[in-house]
Amino acid sequence: MSDAEEVPPGVDPTVPSAGRLYDFYLGGTEHLEIDRAAAAHIKAKVPELEDIAWSNRGFLQRATSWLAAEAGIRQFIDIGAGLPTRNNTHEAAQKVTEDARTVYVDNDPMILAHAKGLLADAKNTTFITGDLREPDEILDNPELRGLIDLDQPVGLVLAAVVHFVSDESDPWQLVKRYMNALTPGSYLVLSHITADKVSPAGVQAFLDVYSNASEKGYFRTKEEVTRLFDGLELVPPYEGAAPSVTFTGLWGAEDPEAADSDGSRWGYCGVARRP
Ligand SMILES: C[S@@+](CC[C@H](N)C(=O)[O-])C[C@H]1O[C@@H](n2cnc3c(N)ncnc32)[C@H](O)[C@@H]1O
Repeated sequence: MSDAEEVPPGVDPTVPSAGRLYDFYLGGTEHLEIDRAAAAHIKAKVPELEDIAWSNRGFLQRATSWLAAEAGIRQFIDIGAGLPTRNNTHEAAQKVTEDARTVYVDNDPMILAHAKGLLADAKNTTFITGDLREPDEILDNPELRGLIDLDQPVGLVLAAVVHFVSDESDPWQLVKRYMNALTPGSYLVLSHITADKVSPAGVQAFLDVYSNASEKGYFRTKEEVTRLFDGLELVPPYEGAAPSVTFTGLWGAEDPEAADSDGSRWGYCGVARRP
């Protein structure tokens, strides 16, 4: 987007936004000068910045396809969706089964403004505004209820969004709250940024930017991310692996060694079933 253009209502062009930054990492068009400058600050310390985003996106696509193909999931709620561009949840699911239904949720006004247009021709797919920290408002939203039957299994996608929830807002309880609202046989697809195996200077560059962005970011350890799946049955991330969380590039990888990359090691992910 050119900064000379008017920004949608509710958008502050002086504050970098989590949604626009991610769009920039993926090579999209919905970002402002403030986002590009912030991304340059991170990129100076994290050359694999784009690989982090694409590795996460790859996990999201493989996990969604797996849910549709192997677990028979036909409806998806994707919170913290970002812009539904190339190969997002509804496309990955509908490639497997044309009747898949998807509700996207995000709290970024610029994302919402452009998402509706991007989805104009998409079947059984809608985009609503909502905040992950307000589960009742999201789950009771009439547009969501029009597309999603909560008495049938749902794939809940929380990709690269729980790291915007502080410990004070208790992300562990929040995820539990969502999964308890879904019927047994539902699945959680979740990824989360981590500082466990990456350069401290790179982590600091992220913290510099996101402590002044629309959403603050929080790095968590493998143990903390694993606890987000408490009470659920994690599925093995790739053939021969034990059920566990893993780095984003490895989930669903045909050759886990080849799938390892610098970007992949910034994110843990997992897929788990509600028993
Ligand atoms: C890093 S992007 C991830 C996009 C997509 N889920 C993916 O993994 O490719 C994070 C998205 O979460 C959104 N977000 C951040 N905090 C949120 C919250 N509390 N409620 C809803 N959306 C949120 C941001 O606006 C942004 O679009």
